[in-house]
Amino acid sequence: MKKRYKYSIAIIVAILVTIIILLIKSNRWESYYTIKLNEPAREFIVQALKKIPNPKSSDIALDLGAGVGHETLLLLEKGFNVIALDKQKIAFDFMLKRPEITQYKDRLKTISSSFEDLDFTLLPDLDIVIASFSIPFINPKNFDEFWNHLFAKIKSGGYFIGNTFDPGFTTFNEKDRSVMSFHTKQQTMDLLKKFTILSFKEVKEASKSPGKYTHHYEIIAQKK
Ligand SMILES: C[S@@+](CC[C@H](N)C(=O)[O-])C[C@H]1O[C@@H](n2cnc3c(N)ncnc32)[C@H](O)[C@@H]1O
Repeated sequence: MKKRYKYSIAIIVAILVTIIILLIKSNRWESYYTIKLNEPAREFIVQALKKIPNPKSSDIALDLGAGVGHETLLLLEKGFNVIALDKQKIAFDFMLKRPEITQYKDRLKTISSSFEDLDFTLLPDLDIVIASFSIPFINPKNFDEFWNHLFAKIKSGGYFIGNTFDPGFTTFNEKDRSVMSFHTKQQTMDLLKKFTILSFKEVKEASKSPGKYTHHYEIIAQKK
């Protein structure tokens, strides 16, 4: 009887721990979005979009890992038709409550999908892709296939504006790193072989955690 009682307690504790872990995991991006909502759009993307010509009314942009939509909004304001993609449905709950974004709803489509599961056949050809702090979250097993599909969808003369993370981006824990894609400067250049590089900047900064660094590349490139 005592043994069975202990066994039941162990099962209840295991279930509670699992629920707590799931809650923490599901709220991780939600907490991030709540903070992001009150921050401005990334300056790199603001400046990059100023450097490219204004679109035709039929031009299509894809915002990969759109989050709360800061960069989506920049694309809409510039005049693009925008496909905002994010794995987290909750990102769109934040995004689609923003009146400054919903005023453009006729030119906005949202797709809730992981990069890894994205069905590229459903996408139109693209005039510009924004990938702001997003594609390094692709599982390394899937990165090359994803990149090849993405490349094929970008029109000749279309733009890629985004980041890769150097392996020296050390603020993520080992578990997260194991499912993320990192690229050295040379590996990033290799990804861009069939693009003309319009701007390339290496950014390395000490993080708040001692001994840890953020280290990434900011890319503006045009498909040849
Ligand atoms: C660091 S945030 C960047 C958000 C925004 N682009 C920015 O620059 O602030 C990364 C975004 O990518 C999304 N994301 C992460 N992994 C993903 C995956 N495997 N597939 C699709 N979206 C993913 C997250 O949900 C999150 O909204």
